Amino acid sequence: MSDIPVGIDALSFYTPSYYLDLRALAAQRGVNPDKYLIGLGQERMSVAPPDEDVVTMAASAARPLLDLTDPGRIEWLIFATETGVDQSKAAALFVHGLLDLPESCRAIEMKEACYSGTAALQMACAWAARRPGRQALIVASDIARYDLQSPGEPTQGAGAVAMLVGAEPRILAVDPEAGFHSEDVMDFWRPNYRDAALVDGQYSTRVYLASLAHAWGRYCAASGRGFSDFARFCYHLPFTRMAEKAHARLARSAGAPEPTPEVLREFIGDSLLYNRVTGNTYAASLYEGLTSLLDHSAEDLGGRRIGLYSYGSGCVAEFFSGRVQPGYRTRLRAPAHRAMIEARQELEYQQYEDIFNLPFPTGGGDHVFSQYRTGPYRLAGVSQHKRIYEAL
Ligand code: CAA
Repeated sequence: MSDIPVGIDALSFYTPSYYLDLRALAAQRGVNPDKYLIGLGQERMSVAPPDEDVVTMAASAARPLLDLTDPGRIEWLIFATETGVDQSKAAALFVHGLLDLPESCRAIEMKEACYSGTAALQMACAWAARRPGRQALIVASDIARYDLQSPGEPTQGAGAVAMLVGAEPRILAVDPEAGFHSEDVMDFWRPNYRDAALVDGQYSTRVYLASLAHAWGRYCAASGRGFSDFARFCYHLPFTRMAEKAHARLARSAGAPEPTPEVLREFIGDSLLYNRVTGNTYAASLYEGLTSLLDHSAEDLGGRRIGLYSYGSGCVAEFFSGRVQPGYRTRLRAPAHRAMIEARQELEYQQYEDIFNLPFPTGGGDHVFSQYRTGPYRLAGVSQHKRIYEAL
């Protein structure tokens, strides 16, 4: 095996310009707000306006990365999502067009619930070791959507993460060892005829935790590393409290003491900050957590190892790790990420419900969408069953 380091060379996060405060949702649902704020660990959820979808979010996340590389070096565009916009055409091709990527770049879409971003990353790392000097652009983009008034509703969210992956990475060198777990279970799914997910919520949390223990055991066997080898941990984040439960489960599996609130704050606290105010971003969520950790860590993590747990319902789980690269801070977009989150506009409850209930035109013909606040790209309409995107 080649021992050239491969991994994440640049990282960018995008979330839509609107949010609903979960206190407002709790008031409508007749629920004590602390159930959402403390019990789930969520405060706000991002809401995509009708003229944004996973394509515009992915392109908006990826756009700043093109200033950090020569786009001619990008040979793969991999789009990880469970909110696909077409059964045949890869959403990656719309992004390829919006970003004006070279024709010599392949463009595909990958799916396995929230795990697909990690499948894309591992595939790109394996490829990058054979193609030094070339890069893969990974975009993970999702809109988490559950039925109104369902238990999953307060865990909705929207966002995208884009990553440049290649040899000699300047943010995170991904270790070659990993532990996996796959199992055919029905904890969360979305049949083709539905636009909101179905979920066996309590069961899904149990499968998430059991899969973590399996993946961790296989990771330890493959790497020879243990709990104390990690400076920080990032977990898939359906809601932030899930990561706290995951860390406690991992500590138990590793024979370490039950983590105190201080220990949780130290080892996972920084990774939760973005998710708490955006909600679940499915395939992007682990990488939103990684971005949050690197953007917020007061300690320079250069040279330190972090553990990452990816979970996709259905299910595939993976525990893997990476070493943060010295000097990584110069590659971060922390001020831009914080400014984007702070500039969001709060929605009234009724505005959220109106957006939720707006039907997507499916009957052919020409449909022009109203203009909302978006990032640099928007979904302008649909004409003859073709999505029309525009750059602003
Ligand atoms: N103050 C403080 N805490 C309170 C409270 C109050 N007033 N009222 C309730 N709580 C606590 C509860 O004790 C509970 O905490 P613990 O689990 O630590 O006991 C927490 O709030 C949630 O309460 P419930 O378990 O009663 O909540 P619920 O059953 O209504 O919904 C859920 C929880 C099932 C996770 C639901 O949000 C859901 O279905 N979410 C979608 C599925 C999901 O996110 N699954 C996660 C694993 S699968 C995955 O990770 C893939 C993915 O992205 C979807």
